Amino acid sequence: MKPQTNLNRRREEFPTLASGIHLLSHSLGPVPRAARESMLAYYDAWEHHTSEDAWATSWWEMSAHVGNRIAKILGGAPGSVQVQPNASIALSSVLSCFDFTSTKRSKIVASALDFPSMRYILDAQTPIGAQVETVASDDGVTIPTERVLAAIDDGTALVALSHVSFRSSYRVEVEPIVERAHQHGALVLLDVYQSAGVVPLRAAAWGVDLLIGGTIKWLCGGPACGYLYVRPDLQSQLQPKLTGWVAHSAPFDFTAPPMRYDQSVRRFAQGTPSIPALYSVLPGLQIIEDVGVETCRAESERRTEWMINFALEHGWKVNSPRDVNQRGGSVMVYVDDGPGMVQRLNERGVFVDCRPGVGLRMSPHFFNLDEEVKEAMEILRQVMR
Ligand SMILES: Cc1ncc(COP(=O)(O)O)c(C=O)c1O
Repeated sequence: MKPQTNLNRRREEFPTLASGIHLLSHSLGPVPRAARESMLAYYDAWEHHTSEDAWATSWWEMSAHVGNRIAKILGGAPGSVQVQPNASIALSSVLSCFDFTSTKRSKIVASALDFPSMRYILDAQTPIGAQVETVASDDGVTIPTERVLAAIDDGTALVALSHVSFRSSYRVEVEPIVERAHQHGALVLLDVYQSAGVVPLRAAAWGVDLLIGGTIKWLCGGPACGYLYVRPDLQSQLQPKLTGWVAHSAPFDFTAPPMRYDQSVRRFAQGTPSIPALYSVLPGLQIIEDVGVETCRAESERRTEWMINFALEHGWKVNSPRDVNQRGGSVMVYVDDGPGMVQRLNERGVFVDCRPGVGLRMSPHFFNLDEEVKEAMEILRQVMR
């Protein structure tokens, strides 16, 4: 592996890294040390709150502040992201904007590599008129772009796909999909939970309509702060039925219906924001901003390439794309007994996880040393015997 010499990996800022080799950024990233202070600041504000001062002095604005910082990472403009309880609610909010019954435009194009939440939530729209077309994957790893494009037609309301798959780390080609969908009058939603923080994202340049995700993985935040990006010029056209008082244009008037949605991205909020989650994401966002997603990506490419080559040299089945241009930040290696293997690796100080039919999921992030990545693969070689 060609070494990278000048990068500050900020390891002392992640206390968990002292416990072993952390390759779990696709699941729950290690806590930044500064998160302790941030959570105490939350507690202090709560303890000293007597009337509505905590809301007035910081809490109300915090959603917008965190949303704008996430927007930057997504490649979107300020005012394009509303924080959400989690990615599942973000998707539900989007779907609640559609009326599938009263239109011929009722098709949703999805893929077999999407996260189960997405598939359950899409399936739940079928009794109210949606037709879900799930594009198949022949190898369980990739989906040919042409197959996605072929599924998009004039009856398509929404193309909803994982940008990077949780199963294989396959990364879809965004631009042709957005282009085809827009030609047919459909919107595109990407679930970027597995790419934000490790793959540079260009929401505005892509012209993508909607992005959903959360912060606990590659963005080093705590559970759980989800987010929803909505293309700025699309926002005022959408009226989520999954709503609440915080989405109202004058929430503190507490008026009777009808609902008057706010003109800003806050129209996609629901009720009281999860304030502890907002405090928990700030230190991780700061670190990712400082290190830079481009740097995280360059490191990821260098190390995942090496891991895949190592796996192939040892005759293991790699369940992730070989082509770096089709890959997110993880490497999946098939093993028969996933849970047993995770346990054995854990005992040797290597922290990974597994998924049924996939095998091990391993994700180096900027804070991992090259020596750790090599050691983890060497230990895997020993336990594979
Ligand atoms: C690609 C992807 N989408 C969505 C989720 C779940 O998001 P949430 O729990 O915030 O609904 C995950 C979690 O692992 C994921 O990997």
